[in-house]
Amino acid sequence: MASIIDVKFEHYQGDALGVQELKPRISWRFQDTPTDFQQKGYEVELSEISLDSQFVLLENVKCKSSLSSLVPWPLSQPLKSRQKVSIRVRAWDENGYSTPWSERRKIETGLLVRSDWKADRIVAPWGTVLEPQPEQLFRREFSLKGQVSEARLYITAQGVYEAEINAQRVGDYFLAPGWTSYDSRIQYQTYDVKSFLESDKNCIGVRIAEGWFCGRIGFEGGHRNIWGPHPALLAQLEIKYVDGQVEIIASDHSWKVRKGPIQLAELYDGEKYDATQEVPGWSYPSTGSDEGWETALVMEPLPASIELTAGFGEPVRRVEAIRPVHKIVTPSGKIVLDFGQNLVGYLRLRNIKGPRGHKIVLSHAEVLENHELGTRPLRICQAIDTYTLKGDEQGESYEPRFTFHGFRYAQIDGWVSEHDLETSIEAAVCHTDMKKAGTFSCSDPLLNKLYQNICWGMRGNFLSVPTDCPQRDERMGWSGDLALFAPTATLIYDCFSMLKNWFVDVKHEQRTLGGVPSMVTPNATLPDPVWCRRIPCAIWHDVTILGPFALYEETGDINILSQQYSSMTTWIRKIPRNSIGTTHLWNNNIFQLGDWLDPAAPPDAPWKGATDAKMVANCFLIQSLDLIARVAGILGRDTDQDEFTKEAQNAKKDFQAEYVTPNGRMVSDSQTAYALVICFNLLSPSQTERAGRRLEELVRKNEFKIGTGFAGTPYICEALVRTGHTQVAFSMLLEKNCPSWLYPVTMGATTVWERWDSMLPDGTINPGEMTSFNHYAFGSIAKFMYERVAGLQRLESGWKRFRFAPRIGAEFSQASASHITPQGTIACSWETNASADGLHTIKMKVSVPHNTICEIVIPDDSVGETEIVSHGEWSFKRTFSRDYEWPVPILPPKA
Ligand code: BGC
Repeated sequence: MASIIDVKFEHYQGDALGVQELKPRISWRFQDTPTDFQQKGYEVELSEISLDSQFVLLENVKCKSSLSSLVPWPLSQPLKSRQKVSIRVRAWDENGYSTPWSERRKIETGLLVRSDWKADRIVAPWGTVLEPQPEQLFRREFSLKGQVSEARLYITAQGVYEAEINAQRVGDYFLAPGWTSYDSRIQYQTYDVKSFLESDKNCIGVRIAEGWFCGRIGFEGGHRNIWGPHPALLAQLEIKYVDGQVEIIASDHSWKVRKGPIQLAELYDGEKYDATQEVPGWSYPSTGSDEGWETALVMEPLPASIELTAGFGEPVRRVEAIRPVHKIVTPSGKIVLDFGQNLVGYLRLRNIKGPRGHKIVLSHAEVLENHELGTRPLRICQAIDTYTLKGDEQGESYEPRFTFHGFRYAQIDGWVSEHDLETSIEAAVCHTDMKKAGTFSCSDPLLNKLYQNICWGMRGNFLSVPTDCPQRDERMGWSGDLALFAPTATLIYDCFSMLKNWFVDVKHEQRTLGGVPSMVTPNATLPDPVWCRRIPCAIWHDVTILGPFALYEETGDINILSQQYSSMTTWIRKIPRNSIGTTHLWNNNIFQLGDWLDPAAPPDAPWKGATDAKMVANCFLIQSLDLIARVAGILGRDTDQDEFTKEAQNAKKDFQAEYVTPNGRMVSDSQTAYALVICFNLLSPSQTERAGRRLEELVRKNEFKIGTGFAGTPYICEALVRTGHTQVAFSMLLEKNCPSWLYPVTMGATTVWERWDSMLPDGTINPGEMTSFNHYAFGSIAKFMYERVAGLQRLESGWKRFRFAPRIGAEFSQASASHITPQGTIACSWETNASADGLHTIKMKVSVPHNTICEIVIPDDSVGETEIVSHGEWSFKRTFSRDYEWPVPILPPKA
C-alpha cells in the first residue's frame, strides 16, 4: 500500500528544533507505491503543539498538484519565534486512491528577532590579553519555582563553547557555535534541556575558549583576535512552568567566571589540559563559597549589524571512533600509534595513571618520514595535545574539547599507566554531521580504495566550513577548492545545508570587499594586506556561481539560486576585462592561479603549470557566463539572461580568436586546455573532435599519467569519453605511476593528497612547503566514477530525470552506485560475463524512485539502445562483443 515517508522541512533531516525559517517548505517521499500511482494532489494538516503536547489544528490545506518536493508553506502568515507546529501529509492520485496520513513531523522556531534575546554578552573581567588564554568557566545557580513543562537553552559564544547543566553535558555538538563570518553572523544553538533540570536547586555552567573567533587562524601563520579581542558568552535558558509562567535565566552580571583546566585551546597548536586545575562540581549547585570565582563583566550588546542566527548547516559532531591498528617504536625510541586512516579529530584517552603533575604529550602527523612523525608539512602548527595528570589512582580519562588535528599517526610521550596504550586510546573522528548521499563500488579494488579515500577527504574537510586541508596552519574555506569539488561533493554527502550556510558568508565577505569575493570564507586574511585579499581571481571567485549551481543541480532547489543571485551577478560584472582587443576576456595583466598544482609546476610555484593560466581563467569565465545565463532564465530574469547569453557568445568568439586554431588545436597544448574546452563546449563540433584526438595523443604520449592540476582534473577523463576515447580515459583513471590517481593509493594513502606527489616514490615528503595529505580537490574524479564507470548520471536538476549508462571498458566486470535523491534512493548496478563464443553478457539493474524518469542505455551490439522507464525495479540482460584492446597501447593505432 502506498504511503508517505520522510516528511521534512526545508533540508532538515527529521524534526527540527530552533530553526529560523518563517515559511519552511515541505517535502516528502513515497513508499510502496504502485507503478501507476501519480500524485494528483496533496493535503497538509498543520497543528500547533500545545504545552501539554496536544496537537491543535491550525489549518488543513488541500492542493491539486503533483509537487512533492519543496512544497510551499501552507499558511500565509509566517511562523513566530518559539512556535511549535507539526504537519502530516497525505496524497491522492487521479484514480481517487489516497495514501494514509504520514507520521507527524515537528518543527520549532528559535529566537527570530533580536528583541527575543534577553541575555547580556558577558566576558571574564581580566580583559584583552595578546597571548592565548586558558578556557573560561562561567556558572549561574538557580532554583525552580514549580513544575516545568518545557525548557530551552538558546546559547552562543564569540569563541567556542560547551554547556553543562547540573554537571551533565548539554548536546553533543563539537566546536559550537561553528565558524561563520563573525562580523556578520553568529550562529546560536537551541537545546531541549527539560530532562537536565532538578526539582529545586540547579546550576548552568558554560566553558568557552577562543576557537576561530579570537584564536590564531589564517594564512602564512595566521593572526589572533581577528574578530574580537576575547571570547564572550550569550546564553538564555527559558523555562516554562505548567502553570504557564515563563522564567528566563540569562547571562548577565549575576554569572561567575574563572579559568578552567584547559590552559591552551588552540586550533593549530592543540590543547593543554591540566587536570590539577580542575574545578570539581563547577556546573553543579554548590554548597560552598564562591572562592576563586569572579563576577562576569557585561559587555555592550552585539551590534545590530551582527545577525544572531540559527544558521542552516548541520552541527559538527564526533561521528566515529577508530582504534589504532599498530603500535610502532620509531628508530629514536618514540611510541607511535597508527590508526590506519588519515582522519580529522583528536585522541580520546582512558586508563591514564601516573603521579600528579605528570604530563602525557600527544603529537599528531599525517605521515611518517624516515619512520618518525612527519611534521614538517604542518608548518606553523604544533598539533600537540598535553594532558597533565591529577594523580587519581582509579585512572583518569581525557579528550580535547576545543581543538582538532588531521592525522593518521600519533606519538604518545609519557604514557606510564600499566594499561596498554592500544586499548586505552582511540581516535574520535569529527566533521559536520552530513548524511551520506551516495555509494560507489566496482570490480577494481584500487579504485574502490580511491573512492573511500575521497570520502574520507571530504569528511575531514567539511568541518563547519569547507576547508582546504585539516592539519596545517590553514584549514580555511578556500573558495577555489570548493568551486571545483562541489559537483562531486553533492554526490557523496548531503552537504546542501552546510554549503548553503557557507554561501551566506561568501556573499557577506564579497559585499565587504566591494564585490570581489574573499579567497577564503570566512575571511581570515582580514588583518593583513596580503596578496589574496582583493585581487580578482578566476575559479576561486567563480565559486559564487559554480557552487550554488552545483547545489541547485543536486536538489532542484531554486531558492539557493535566488539567495545567491546578487552575489553571482556582482562577481560576473566585476570581472576585469581587457580594454582593447579581446575585450570580453579577462584582463590579461591580472595574476591568475590557473591550473593550480599541475604536475609540471615546480614544488614552490604551484601556479606555474603547463597550461596558460590566463586561458584557464577565460575558460571558467565563459563557463560562469553560460551558467549564470541559465540561472537568470530559471529565475525569470529575462533582461539579465539576454545580457549574459550575449556576453558568453562574445567571450567565446574572443576566446576562439585568442586561443584556438580553426582546426581545434589549442595554443596551450596541454591536457587541461583540451579538457576544459571540450567539457565547457567552447569549440565547434569539428574542432571538438580534433581537440579530442589531440587530447588522446597527449595522454598517450604522457603514458596515461596525469598532466592536470586543480582546474583540469575534474574534466580530463570526461573530455576523453565525450570525444570517444573511453578506453584512454580508463587507462588514465587506472594508471598507477606517478602522477596519477592511483599512485597515492599504491603508496598507502587513505585520503586524497594535495599534490599528486605529496609523498615521493622514495617515501620522502615533497619538498614544497605546501604539502598536505588531505585535500579534496583531486578527488573530484569520483563524479566520473559515478557517471561513467557505474553509469549513473543526473540529467535534470533534483534528479527528476537521470540516466543509467555505464561505459564498458578496461577490465571492469562490475560496478554499482546508489544515490539518495529528493525523490528517493536510486540504486544501479551492472556486471558482465565472458562467454565461450567471445561474446559478453551484461546484466543491468536499476531501482527508479517514484516521480523520476530513467533513461537506460544498454551497451549491446545495437549501439544506442535506450529504454525509458519510470518508477520501479528494472533489469536487463544483453550480449555484446568487447571491441577494444586492453591494456590500451601507448602508441595509437596507425591511421
Ligand atoms: C590552499 C589551497 C588553495 C590555495 C590557493 C593553498 O594554500 O591549501 O587549497 O586553493 O592555497 O592559493
